[in-house]
Amino acid sequence: MQIDGSAALVTGGASGLGLATARRIIDRGGRVVLADISEEQGAKAVADLGDAARFVRADITDEAALDAALDAAQQQGPLRFVVHCAGRGGDRTRILDKERKPADLATFAEVIRVNLVGTYNVLRLAAARLADNEIVDGDRGAIVLTASVAAFDGQIGQTSYTAAKAGVHGMTLVAARDLASWQIRVNTIAPGIMDTPMLGRLRADIREGLAATVPHPKRLGDPDDFGRLAVEMLENPYLNGQTIRLDGSIRMAPR
Ligand SMILES: NC(=O)c1ccc[n+]([C@@H]2O[C@H](COP(=O)([O-])OP(=O)(O)OC[C@H]3O[C@@H](n4cnc5c(N)ncnc54)[C@H](O)[C@@H]3O)[C@@H](O)[C@H]2O)c1
Repeated sequence: MQIDGSAALVTGGASGLGLATARRIIDRGGRVVLADISEEQGAKAVADLGDAARFVRADITDEAALDAALDAAQQQGPLRFVVHCAGRGGDRTRILDKERKPADLATFAEVIRVNLVGTYNVLRLAAARLADNEIVDGDRGAIVLTASVAAFDGQIGQTSYTAAKAGVHGMTLVAARDLASWQIRVNTIAPGIMDTPMLGRLRADIREGLAATVPHPKRLGDPDDFGRLAVEMLENPYLNGQTIRLDGSIRMAPR
């Protein structure tokens, strides 16, 4: 499906992987609504991306806010594409602490709420909009979700984040099957260690250490690496129900 002349919703689009994806979509002639909770980042992103971008403040766990963002995207042109990047890090908590005390349930549930329930919320509300489109090149629309390599090799203390991202991977094929009769494709990217503001807060020597653990290329992932793959997933008509690791072949160690 051609991006030129279409609209896209990019959640988490004010920063990092979402922002890089929005830039790629605009380069292809698309218009983008960035749905994000950070108004400050959103304003900067729109100033950076120009006229083809709009920002709507929306929490992905909030149905009314997401519907408003989808409305705004439909005002930009035929809404055929949704790339869901919004998410948060995990709680970095071991199941038992050194005193054998069990981990807090509330923080686990919160990571699941934002990263897994939030993803399902985006998926279902986006699908309802895309299903109303005319079929073009065989599709009514395409959706890209974001998991993580933690879905496959979660590290010590990552139970909540891993469970959420493994859930995103798990729902990908089901979503593609559920939405096949509506001619909507669903794919997921599982990034490795990407150089986004999430990681920018780390000390330079820690970042260099992380880059050295990537087999090839020996660098952190560039957000644009993600944007390129996301655009390919939107455009390629035969790519469906698939999670692709984007990670320089890294396999995360236990810690
Ligand atoms: N950076 C990495 O190394 C990496 C690796 C694997 C997976 N990921 C995943 O990629 C996605 C994007 O991460 P990033 O690195 O670009 O981070 P980022 O912090 O640069 O961007 C994430 C954006 O999501 C927004 N956001 C957070 N919670 C939200 C909510 N409830 N509703 C709406 N927006 C919300 C934030 O405001 C932020 O702008 C996340 O799902 C993350 O888990 C990142």
